[in-house]
Amino acid sequence: MSTQKVAFITGANRGIGFETAKKLGKLGIFPVIGSRNEVSGKEAVDKLKADGIEADSIVFDVTNKADHAKAYDYFEDKFGKLDILVNNAGVSLEGDPVSSFSTGNPTTGVSEETLRGTLEANFFAQVFSTQVLLPLIRKSEAGRIVNVSSTLGSLNLHSDPTSQIYAIQMFAYNTSKTALNAFTVHLAYELRDTAIKVNSVHPGWVQTELGGSSAPLSPEDGAESSVRLATIPSDGPTGGFFYLDDIIPW
Ligand SMILES: NC(=O)c1ccc[n+]([C@@H]2O[C@H](COP(=O)([O-])OP(=O)(O)OC[C@H]3O[C@@H](n4cnc5c(N)ncnc54)[C@H](OP(=O)(O)O)[C@@H]3O)[C@@H](O)[C@H]2O)c1
Repeated sequence: MSTQKVAFITGANRGIGFETAKKLGKLGIFPVIGSRNEVSGKEAVDKLKADGIEADSIVFDVTNKADHAKAYDYFEDKFGKLDILVNNAGVSLEGDPVSSFSTGNPTTGVSEETLRGTLEANFFAQVFSTQVLLPLIRKSEAGRIVNVSSTLGSLNLHSDPTSQIYAIQMFAYNTSKTALNAFTVHLAYELRDTAIKVNSVHPGWVQTELGGSSAPLSPEDGAESSVRLATIPSDGPTGGFFYLDDIIPW
């Protein structure tokens, strides 16, 4: 079994996921990029290599169960374990937060395609892929699972008229992240007597395809919360929801 730590970051061919892979690589962890497009995954690895970081990529569509099994085989054969899983891949089928103001995104008008498609990618697929990879994370001395969520998944903030996100009514996306947070809490409970820590993070509002061009943060800044929770020590938190060191209400 490899002594170097290995991390699997899903949706890491671009955006926050790519920067997360880069930062973990700079810490001496071997990042494996999950990309649903093979070429774009290889291009991301080339960029990391140009930065002096050894990395690899695998084809991984989080909604494709065959890819879950192939990912298991890859990590089992090559490393015999998985130390860090960053469930970063995600979609917003309702546009970015600013464009959602102009469309209104009425909750009563959400289409079945949008609601099911968003929940499939951002929730169901995250649960099932984590289930498949969990036996390998159990083989790590200090397994870490980071679910990349959003403050938009916070029911506390959404029900508070003074909250900055009160009016961001992307019902499908917001619900998918609320559900992902529930997975964090329940998985952390199940794993409470193991060395594995499971947390949700909010990356901040980040300028990516998903975050839109009005976002104030760079993808590099956006990766910081994922990296912190992916590398917390053995006395660190589990079952929490964080932006940097701040606790976010559920
Ligand atoms: N940007 C923000 O302000 C913000 C705020 C809160 C939370 N987040 C969360 O942060 C995470 C990363 O988002 P981002 O802003 O970096 O977005 P992004 O630049 O749009 O990147 C999304 C990534 O997810 C991948 N992806 C989408 N569907 C996938 C699937 N079915 N299987 C595998 N990969 C898939 C994309 O791959 P392709 O290149 O193939 O499309 C891409 O690599 C998401 O979970 C998002 O919800 C972002």
